[in-house]
Amino acid sequence: MRQGIGVLLAENTDTLANETVEHYPACYAEKIMRKPAGFRERSGEILISKKRRIIMARRRIIAGNWKMNKTPSEAVALCAELKDLVKNDAVDVVYCVPAIDIVPVAEAVKGTNVHVGAENFYIEDKGAFTGEISAPMLKEAGVEFVIIGHSERRDIFGENDILINAKVKKAFASGLTPILCCGESLALRKAGTYKEWIKRQIEWDLTDVTADQVKTLVIAYEPIWAIGTGETATADQAEEVCAMIRETIAEMYDAATAEAVRIQYGGSMNAGNAAELLSKPNIDGGLIGGASLKPDFGQIVNA
Ligand code: 13P
Repeated sequence: MRQGIGVLLAENTDTLANETVEHYPACYAEKIMRKPAGFRERSGEILISKKRRIIMARRRIIAGNWKMNKTPSEAVALCAELKDLVKNDAVDVVYCVPAIDIVPVAEAVKGTNVHVGAENFYIEDKGAFTGEISAPMLKEAGVEFVIIGHSERRDIFGENDILINAKVKKAFASGLTPILCCGESLALRKAGTYKEWIKRQIEWDLTDVTADQVKTLVIAYEPIWAIGTGETATADQAEEVCAMIRETIAEMYDAATAEAVRIQYGGSMNAGNAAELLSKPNIDGGLIGGASLKPDFGQIVNA
């Protein structure tokens, strides 16, 4: 199995005991698989001898988006069916499930490597918002991730980038990790303006979000024409956009933030095409719809 890899980038350099050392944020310490010679930790940062070329592995993240599928009892049965198939210590596995399934699914995956995610939430903590669910409710139920800005919420439920940006900020403020979705329609793909569109979505949706927050963010690139259609973007098409998203993050923040953010591909990903998509350097995982409801999901986790 191959992990998405990237070069770990230093924030600046310094000379220590006649040796050039590079400074990295302390949060990188856990990303370095093998600590090289010349590795030192200091409060708030780590120092590494410049002679060493550090390769950082972004941890792969495979998330299922169950959408509006599975009653509570069906959800528990699916967790049992997938339990052994999704075992993989090197991958973050997430089930993003309908609100009513969150509590039984959180119970069903206790003690396994599966994290629980929500598919949506509202930006207020409580009050007169009929039909909505809040971040504190999700947190108490054991939710760690939340999908924000999925194209189905944008297109069917009219969510715009102002609300999506507010949701990203609220999720971070509440200790939830957003899985922020972006992606173009078939018309934009055909018009050739898809990259400008996606760049704009990222800029709007991350307004006033800090670099430290973006380092832990998950972005899902989901071309709308590939969702539920059986038509997957080719690995090269997906990689082109995921690389562009990373460049956008580098422009908005800095190289270290761009290297840390995890970017998924989503859209008809399945057991047959996952390995090729995941072999691309800027694709760190997948957001999977239809195939997350089947044993195939285990094959994607272990692709
Ligand atoms: P499919 O995998 O069913 O195409 O759905 C992708 C998706 O929308 C995940 O969020």
